[in-house]
Amino acid sequence: MSVSSARLVLGIESSCDDSSVAVLEDGTRLRAHLIAAQDLHKLYGGVVPELAARAHLDLLPRMVEQALAEARLAPGDLTGIAVTYAPGLVGSLVVGVALAKAYAYALGIPVVGVNHIEAHLHAATLEHGPSPLPAVALVVSGGHTELVEVRGFGDYRWLGSTRDDAAGEAYDKVAKRLGLGFPGGPILDRLATQGNATAFDLPRPMLHQPGFDFSFSGLKTAVANIVAALGDPPYADDLVRDLAASFQAAVVETLVARTMRALEATGARALSLGGGVACNRALRAALETACAERNVALRIPSPRLCADNAAMIALVGSWKLAAGAPAEPGLEAVASLEESGLPVPTA
Ligand code: KG4
Ligand code: ZN
Repeated sequence: MSVSSARLVLGIESSCDDSSVAVLEDGTRLRAHLIAAQDLHKLYGGVVPELAARAHLDLLPRMVEQALAEARLAPGDLTGIAVTYAPGLVGSLVVGVALAKAYAYALGIPVVGVNHIEAHLHAATLEHGPSPLPAVALVVSGGHTELVEVRGFGDYRWLGSTRDDAAGEAYDKVAKRLGLGFPGGPILDRLATQGNATAFDLPRPMLHQPGFDFSFSGLKTAVANIVAALGDPPYADDLVRDLAASFQAAVVETLVARTMRALEATGARALSLGGGVACNRALRAALETACAERNVALRIPSPRLCADNAAMIALVGSWKLAAGAPAEPGLEAVASLEESGLPVPTA
């Protein structure tokens, strides 16, 4: 996929609980990339929207200054600004959008809104270069599980989504139920490597259903029922490791099976991954094997570019600006994916 890029774009991401700022040159060279994960949510066992918005307001202006200093640029060197406008926590989005509009106005440069999910579809391009087309992208995060056919920049066919919990949400809730910390994904990923994945016979929801949708709430409930029968935490280490391994095996098997089905149905030549769950080592390993068997190019970004980050926002913003997208001085935040302008089927 060959797309032109704008010269020096400042990217701003604040859709959830990660504040991030990037400066991208010519759509390829990351001159600066800062990500501040807001640790304060660990105290509450989940993201508190009001606190996330306040933290963005505190962090982002300072991060913009630091990113420009690291890139050795003056604000006046920037040629455009890209900011996540949707989907996400509305209070968090509003902070990034307002800041981006203010910088653009003050600097006399255009600001464009970038869809966060569209940015995840393309994040792998920053390290793997342009994707062979058609491609399939799997976005697996705390808020989303999306399987999309990518035919070109801006040309997408939605294949499937989760019907209930996102994959990352299931990880977080299972970890919470086991009395582990937040976010649960990295903790369960680590524990799973030491456990027996066949110790518990857990469901693989939707595995044999037609289509490409996912469902994780039944699996989450199956784990919750096992844990409920055990009484209150703490639980024996062996048992927690075995549950982690059994749960992870069910998630990975489901994600891989549905994704392979999508590759076969579309004849895609490449698979791109995005979202925090794409950091999962078992998922990465299983996809490597499955894609190698099918001769499909697997494009997994490094963990920093899987999770929420401003580099992918700057990338898509850079393409939009170079394609002549009109500046959006009246840009507004949009919370829901369905109303965000992507061709997502509505229920
Ligand atoms: O993309 P992301 O940083 O934020 C959004 O949700 O948009 O994804 C965060 C999610 C959390 O649910 C977290 O538990 C999960 O990604 N996650 C993982 C791993 N690392 C992060 N899930 C499974 N295995 C991991 N290694
Ligand atoms: Zn995300």
